Parts: sequence; structure tokens; C-alpha cells
Amino acid sequence: QAAQKGGYDTFMEKEIHEQPYVLSETLRGRVDNDVRMDELKEININWEKLERVYFLACGTALNAASFAQDLFRQWVPACPSFALAASEFRYGNYYLNSDTLCIFVSQSGETADTLAALQLAKEKQAKTLSIVNVLGSSLARKSDCTLYTCAGPEIAVASTKAYTTQLVLLVCLMIALSEKLGCQPKDVSKLMADLKRIPEITKDMLAQQEIVKDYAQCLKDQKDAYFIGRRLDYFSVVEGALKLKEVSYVHADAYIAGELKHGPIALIDKGTVVIALATQEEVASKTISNIEETIARGANVILITTQYQDTHAFQKVLRIPDVHPALAAIPAAILLQLFAYYGAVLKGCDVDKPRNLAKSVTVE
Ligand code: G6P
Repeated sequence: QAAQKGGYDTFMEKEIHEQPYVLSETLRGRVDNDVRMDELKEININWEKLERVYFLACGTALNAASFAQDLFRQWVPACPSFALAASEFRYGNYYLNSDTLCIFVSQSGETADTLAALQLAKEKQAKTLSIVNVLGSSLARKSDCTLYTCAGPEIAVASTKAYTTQLVLLVCLMIALSEKLGCQPKDVSKLMADLKRIPEITKDMLAQQEIVKDYAQCLKDQKDAYFIGRRLDYFSVVEGALKLKEVSYVHADAYIAGELKHGPIALIDKGTVVIALATQEEVASKTISNIEETIARGANVILITTQYQDTHAFQKVLRIPDVHPALAAIPAAILLQLFAYYGAVLKGCDVDKPRNLAKSVTVE
């Protein structure tokens, strides 16, 4: 096992550090002046008639799916899209027909709830597309079309590299779909240029690991942590909170920054750990002023933001580089994964095999 860990202490640490490589593998041949996604031809659908899109997944993959739903809504506002926990899909009486596209996201391609959602979609003649990491897995075999993340084997129970490769592939897919539907993402040329830079950007994030390790010390005597963000940042902090609770057993909740004042702020006291993400320029300053409210109540805040925000009110700041807002979730994920990892190490947890969790859940 030590040899398999390639010099790292744990598989989780190794897999976090593999991200520059696996992201470039996942992007290989996909991005030029345009996004290349020939696999979409395998779906027998009249794109002009597409009525709605469902994103279905579980766990970390559901957080990637929710992120994609938000992008699709921004870029293709006329076509309704919904991200749903696959475990809920069969019981919700959702509208499905042959002009519906169901997109399944899964590392293993074997999660029972996601397979059951696929089964229902097929029964209702919906079109099916899977984003999967494991070659030839059940989801891949049973879908009309499969896009593979090239994350390689993910051994640690907590998903890291599978998640960021899902994000980058979903961004590519959302660009491809928006073009098919006659829409275009904002600043598409910057988006294309930044997609190619993603492996380099993730390397720069990993170089900040010692600072993150130092900031993670704030979890030492804490049982709780609160993660805050708006818009796309909200889905990133939901995943950041999931990662922390999975590996460190710190109770972690994620909130929409604008909702803080409607309840969660009651939980903030002297020393409460708050991790705030403010990468979306349109709303970043609003998130920052919400977080200043928590500082006024004694919170111990770590702020992750862009190069441009005024952060004079904050002592612990991590910066992500200038990148298209649709891609900011990837560098942010690296920092949040490192934070969860070092938090778990600090607490002496078995990082690779958290209690009660399985890598792949094959029961409903
Ligand atoms: C389990 C794992 C999670 C994973 C989820 C979905 O709960 O512990 O890390 O996100 O299953 O797995 P999948 O293979 O479908 O992505």
C-alpha cells in the first residue's frame, strides 16, 4: 500500500495532488477554439425540441450536478433544468418524455440510487447521458451516451479528483449544449482560454498547502464549522462542508450567504469557524459584507476570494487567480479539499476510510 501511495501519507493526499494531471487528461482533445464532444451524436434527439434537463447524482457527484444546473440555467435560460438527488427522483413524479435529457454524474457508475434513476428515465423514453469515471461501469453501459472523466482509480472514500474532473467536463458539456441550443456563455473566449489553463491553476493552488494547513489549526477545539457562499460558490461550499464532515467528523453546514441573517447567524459566537467563498465578482462584495457581520460577532473566518476583493477586514485570506467565474469552483475545490484533509489529520482521523462510509453504495 505504501508503494501505491506514491510517497504520500494517504490516498486522499495523493489524489488531491494528482489533480493537475487528471484535469489535463480529462481536457485532452476537448478544447480548442471550440469544445469537442463527438459523443453527443450518439444521443438520438432533436436538440431544438429539448424541453428540459435533469441532473441526477448522489453525494459529491450531486454537488457537481447542482453546479452544472446553475450554469445551464445561466447559459440556456429558456430550457428548464433541475439537479436532484438520484434517491429522490423515483418518488417525485417528475415530468419525463422523449424530449427530456437526463444527465447522470457518478464516479463509480455503480451507485444503486443513480442506476435506479437511470432505469426510470429509460422507462419514460427520456434521453440519457452519463458522466462516469469507471470504464464500462453499469451506468456507462446503460446510457445512450457516456463522457468519461479521466481521474484514474480513486481509492480514498472521500472524492476529490473525481469531483474536479466532473466539474471541468460538465463545464465543457454545458458549453457544447448551450451552442447546440443557440446560446452562448458570457465571455466565451476567456472561458476557452482559461479551460486550457486549469491544470496550471490547480498546481498554483496546491502550492498554497502550507498556508491551508496552518489555517486548519483553527479546527483544533471545534466541533462545528460553517461554510458560506452565493451563486456558484454556494455549491462549492456545500461540497467543502461535505468533505470536512466526511473525513474529520466536524459538523459542517453550508449556507447561502444571503440567508445568514435569516437564521444561521444565531449560531455564530466567539471563535466559531466560518469558511467563506467569494469568487463570483457579481456578488462577491455582498458575501464579504455578510461575512463581516460574523466577524463582528467574534467568528474566526477564512476567506477564499479573487485577486480583486478588498480584504482588509480579514486575517486569514486565500486567493484564487483570475479565472472565468464558471471555472473558479475548481481552484476553490482544491483549497477546500486541503482544508478538510488537514483538519482530519489534526484530529487524528483515518482519512482514507472514514467511519460508516463506503466508496460505492450499491444498495438503495
Ligand atoms: C458514496 C461515496 C461518496 C460519493 C457517492 C456517490 O456515498 O462515499 O464519496 O460521492 O457515493 O458515488 P458515485 O460513485 O456515484 O459518484
